[in-house]
Amino acid sequence: MERTQFPSLKGRTVVVTGGASGIGEALVRAFAGNGSNVAFLDLQEDAGNKLAAELSAGGANAKFLQCDLTDIEAVRAAMADVKAHFGPVGALVNNAANDKRANFLDVSVEEFDWMMAVNLRHVFFAAQAVVPQMRELGYGSIINMTSGAWVRGIREMQAYSTAKAAIVGFTNSLARQVGEFRIRVNALAPGMVITPRQRELWYQDESKIADGLKLQCIPEEIKVEDVANACLFLAADDSRMITKQMLLINGGLI
Ligand SMILES: NC(=O)c1ccc[n+]([C@@H]2O[C@H](COP(=O)([O-])OP(=O)(O)OC[C@H]3O[C@@H](n4cnc5c(N)ncnc54)[C@H](O)[C@@H]3O)[C@@H](O)[C@H]2O)c1
Repeated sequence: MERTQFPSLKGRTVVVTGGASGIGEALVRAFAGNGSNVAFLDLQEDAGNKLAAELSAGGANAKFLQCDLTDIEAVRAAMADVKAHFGPVGALVNNAANDKRANFLDVSVEEFDWMMAVNLRHVFFAAQAVVPQMRELGYGSIINMTSGAWVRGIREMQAYSTAKAAIVGFTNSLARQVGEFRIRVNALAPGMVITPRQRELWYQDESKIADGLKLQCIPEEIKVEDVANACLFLAADDSRMITKQMLLINGGLI
């Protein structure tokens, strides 16, 4: 897939959470391909180091930071590290998540809290850590990954949907707070994107994918690059007057 080049992203410090695999990996590749200084945080040490090494060997400025995003002190330390290495963060993509399904009646308080920690809490605190850096720059773009799942209403995804809907509320409130500093905050809501993990966990049966495609206006698979292209646009100055929006990338599903 051809990728548009956004001149404003060249040399910009960009942070992607959950960047070692799946959609996040595509985001990291897309920003590296646009000449950004891209830092990415993830639990997966081997995959993260491998991706950073590959991109660096290709001449990109990529830095991997191993980090468990459920640990907010570690998130804060990572954002300070990124600033020390690349300079203030101009774009943050809060991408990491875990779409674990569960029977509603079986969800324990501990499991609910963990779902909030892995899907919601770090989004709030990563943004809190970078807003002062963006104020130093005089601009910034925060892109929060939500999901079409909470809009549509999907069984066994109550905790995930709670977090993903809250991310949109957070997006709207923060956009209002920081707009005067030329910091924009938007949400991206992918539809069904069949990453290797999605295929392994939830879509082993090809007919489930075919059924999903039939619900879309455009019955084609949504690629990780489709999400990355929208994210590049929202991070770049080309979208400078777009804030407090949720953009669905779902082939017209909902
Ligand atoms: N794939 C889809 O169909 C789909 C649909 C709607 C929304 N989304 C959203 O898009 C984003 C990316 O989805 P994906 O399918 O690529 O997910 P994924 O599970 O394949 O990747 C998530 C990444 O986050 C990392 N991660 C998870 N927990 C972490 C933690 N505690 N600390 C650090 N890193 C952690 C994982 O290691 C992984 O690299 C998520 O926010 C997801 O909710 C995906």
